Amino acid sequence: MASFPSLLESIDDLNFTQIDVLLSRALHFKDNPQLSPFNTTPKPIIATSFLENSTRTKHSFAVAIRRLGGLYLDFNAETSSLKKGESLEETFLTLFHQGVNLCVFRSSVSHQLAQFKENPPIKLVNGGDGVNEHPTQALLDLYTLSTLTDDLKGKTISIIGDNIHSRVAHSLMKLLPQFGMKIILSGPPEYLPETSSLPKGVELLTDRDETVKRSDFIYLLRIQKERHIGNSNTDNYLETNGVSLDLLKKLKKLIPVLHPGPANIGVELDQSLIKSSLYKGYLQVENSIPMRMAIIEAMLLNNDQNIGKVNGEKF
Ligand code: NCD
Repeated sequence: MASFPSLLESIDDLNFTQIDVLLSRALHFKDNPQLSPFNTTPKPIIATSFLENSTRTKHSFAVAIRRLGGLYLDFNAETSSLKKGESLEETFLTLFHQGVNLCVFRSSVSHQLAQFKENPPIKLVNGGDGVNEHPTQALLDLYTLSTLTDDLKGKTISIIGDNIHSRVAHSLMKLLPQFGMKIILSGPPEYLPETSSLPKGVELLTDRDETVKRSDFIYLLRIQKERHIGNSNTDNYLETNGVSLDLLKKLKKLIPVLHPGPANIGVELDQSLIKSSLYKGYLQVENSIPMRMAIIEAMLLNNDQNIGKVNGEKF
């Protein structure tokens, strides 16, 4: 198996071969739900530490860990010594010395794990950091897309909505073009990045109907109000920038619609669309388990001997 990193902060931390291995392992876990590769003693201990709200990511990791045969520890950051001013590094080293093998960490601060690139205090997975990245969501989305088409190459996916504040969009932009997909970022101009900052294979389009017409897949984003400065008005958003089932029928584009969740019904999509078979949000939730099993397995088995080593003076 390709040697996986001990810190998965960004899609940039993985090469194409490693991503390919994750896709096939995820497929394997999905097809063989009875598999429990870590049902040995001692069982690995995997913690989640979420400093921000989560319904899907945290619980999907918890289920994936249990399905792997690992022990799950819900590290409550709110009641931990982080609140007494302890540094993140000391916190992770403490978990490491308690025998925790890997920690999934979410924070509202972008790039908080970058400080551990050279010398991770514990194996770490980024469960979403501010507006930066959400690599495991992008990987499970790639896996989901690969189950919806025979060939991703040349297909266009439109990411519609609050792109600028979306860590998911930032990871997808790095990941999907590697598989030959074209990305259209669409939405109101205030939610779109500068053209000059776009990677290869990514373009901007503000006209929603034109965007839908050119798409093979739609990926909707919530307006991430908690990351906005000032007020964001969502009045009439559905009519002007959202996607409804009626719109897809009118444009004759009955294509799969993905969403990382949480979805705001009546804003970026309507009730008829979310209840229709075009909506793939629940499939993404299902696929999140095998993909996160694959990620944890790969990182636990990477044989990194330097984890938890302190590089200070020796006397
Ligand atoms: C996303 C997140 O937290 O970045 N949700 C998720 O992890 N499934 C998207 C969002 O919050 O809108």
